[in-house]
Amino acid sequence: MSHEDFPTEDPAVVTCGLPYANGDLHIGHLRTYVGGDIYSRALKRLGQETAFVSGSDMHGTPVAVNAAEEGVTPEEFALRHHERYEETFPKFDVEFDNYGHTHDETNLETTQEIVRTLEEEGYVYEKEIPVAYDPEADQWLPDRFVEGACPYCGEHARGDECDEGCGRHLEPGEIEDPVSTVTGNAAEYRNREHKFFAVSDLQEYLVEFIDRLEGTSNAQNQPREWIEGELQDWCITRDMDWGVDYPGEEDLVLYVWVDAPIEYISSTKQYTERVGSDVFDWEAAWKASGSGAVDGDGAGGSDGAGGPTGGGEIVHIIGRDIIQHHTVFWPAMLRAAGYAEPRAVMASGFITLEGKGFSTSRDRAVWADEYLDEGFRPDLLRYYLATNGGFQQDVDFSWGRFRERVNNELVGTVGNFVYRSLLFAAREFGGSPDVDVSEDVRARIETAIEEFEAGVNEYSVRAVGESAVRLAQFGNEYIQRNEPWKLDDDDPEKARVIRDCVQIAKAVAVLFEPVTPEAAENIWSDLNEDGDVHAAGIDAALDPATQAFDEPTELFEKIPAERVEELNEKLEERVEAATEDDHSGADDDTDGDREDGGAGNASAADLEPIADERIGFEDFQALDIRVGEIVAAEGVEGADKLAKLTVDIGLEERQIVAGIKQLHDLDSLVGETIVVVANLEKAELFGVESNGMLLAAGEQADLLTTHGDAVPGTKIR
Ligand code: MF3
Ligand code: ZN
Repeated sequence: MSHEDFPTEDPAVVTCGLPYANGDLHIGHLRTYVGGDIYSRALKRLGQETAFVSGSDMHGTPVAVNAAEEGVTPEEFALRHHERYEETFPKFDVEFDNYGHTHDETNLETTQEIVRTLEEEGYVYEKEIPVAYDPEADQWLPDRFVEGACPYCGEHARGDECDEGCGRHLEPGEIEDPVSTVTGNAAEYRNREHKFFAVSDLQEYLVEFIDRLEGTSNAQNQPREWIEGELQDWCITRDMDWGVDYPGEEDLVLYVWVDAPIEYISSTKQYTERVGSDVFDWEAAWKASGSGAVDGDGAGGSDGAGGPTGGGEIVHIIGRDIIQHHTVFWPAMLRAAGYAEPRAVMASGFITLEGKGFSTSRDRAVWADEYLDEGFRPDLLRYYLATNGGFQQDVDFSWGRFRERVNNELVGTVGNFVYRSLLFAAREFGGSPDVDVSEDVRARIETAIEEFEAGVNEYSVRAVGESAVRLAQFGNEYIQRNEPWKLDDDDPEKARVIRDCVQIAKAVAVLFEPVTPEAAENIWSDLNEDGDVHAAGIDAALDPATQAFDEPTELFEKIPAERVEELNEKLEERVEAATEDDHSGADDDTDGDREDGGAGNASAADLEPIADERIGFEDFQALDIRVGEIVAAEGVEGADKLAKLTVDIGLEERQIVAGIKQLHDLDSLVGETIVVVANLEKAELFGVESNGMLLAAGEQADLLTTHGDAVPGTKIR
């Protein structure tokens, strides 16, 4: 794409989506923060000047609703959670350069200033709209104070987002059959003036922006249709007390999604205030180069187009449920207010737990504190989260798989290689022999560095993590192949092989530091290296390691099988206890996050009952089900959910239309093996013929595939 490779001359800002200050963190949340931390460490390693910032999201109904339930003020409630988050992140070695919150002075000021600029530049207008109102409670019902049916897909939805269906942001007044979450009564719509941000004036700009945007492909694909379609203006005020006051309007606050992303800027500012602008200059990162704000005229004349906006390398790391906010509303705001645009958005998939969704209300989660209380080091989870799947894929967590990854890769590959190499070196040579590293080992380390760099430039946290593990694996093979223990002490080969292994161990420390910072520190001190491994540049992987050192320590410990049984039992007991308490059976998750919806797999209580009626074997045989391979995949124009697939089913290629557009990254589906009903009647969807049906499980359309390598066309029986 159009951007220069990292490292560049400009300062970078890596941000993580702000967690709502309203609940406890579990390992599902940690995926984004660990991912962000790894990515920012990796950038720093490449020599990119980088600030890693985030903060707590204190405002809005997600906080207000929960605070009200607890009977405390939103401020007290949010601050308490903010402090917990601030303590928890470093325990997982998620080290923000600045972690602020949206209710601090800096953010209140920056937000008001940006809103004033939007007004001055003609991007804000007033309009009368219907707003949900609870006559009994005598109050307006913004966002999560109202629920109802999504006007786009019909699913049950919250006032401002279709969290169980199509995932869209909903504007006030859009939700159908509104019900008040305050009293449970039907709400009514009353007309009221609100402020709107003219996003549609920036359409031409956004169309170009989305083309330039880097990151994970879902962040570019998902919003395209919104941006290219009928871009709606955005209501930016709410009838509430809790929030950032709208400048000059007494009874309105800004919608939480206005002041929340602005904290990315405010948090960077605070970092600069702390370290000085010679160390990190927030303005160089965030301010658009050139003439400042672009002119809009609110009445729909200017389109605000005209190329990228300068500034630094801004990389947003978020969950995939908030792509629209980061690729439409936020860049529109930045553009209109004279700030630089994001270079990349990395949107992670969700996490399931043993194949089912996390449910905070049912206590079906592995909590951050609990993980640490069990005595596990952060490195292990960081590694698992970073490498168990591509960043944008949904990944499943199970204690069993966690154990496998730790035992096989961290203990078996990395730990084993480093330990045996350094032990042998210490015993035989009292440290690293002072000879040259051989050419092919040097070349292999260079390859690992290239893989690491490519991982950063391709926004692949997994590739960054794997570069070190693959190098360690090479190290194991190398030591096995060369069998230094068989060589005579005076054979120069012996010193050379050991010297090579020590260098590989050092390179592993350098390359693995972003993912497993503690292990990297341990290798560093075992090697008797000076300085701080966290501050070492990527080239340190090839800097000679020739010191004397003592016998090493073990890097990682194996997890015994019994531990997994124990942990699974604990989890089950807890889920049972919580489910018994929860008589309604409904998911009353009130922590305000969407981890349950995102996971998409029904928990046992939600499963549909098995059909009463039995069918004969002949009925089954009437279905012609085949193995297929996806040859091409693209969205159906004008349809939010539909994708058009070309599927090779052996005897022929079929065009199949399926409702998976927003659930899968279409590009990455090409080459996947799927299962197709080949003799279903043809149908026409949105004017496109569908000749067959693909099989998928559940709301998130988990695609069926085959376990072995049956070729396309193979009949399924
Ligand atoms: N608190 C929001 C959520 O959990 C995320 C805010 S991200 C920011 O969905 F962009 F607004 F900062
Ligand atoms: Zn919907």
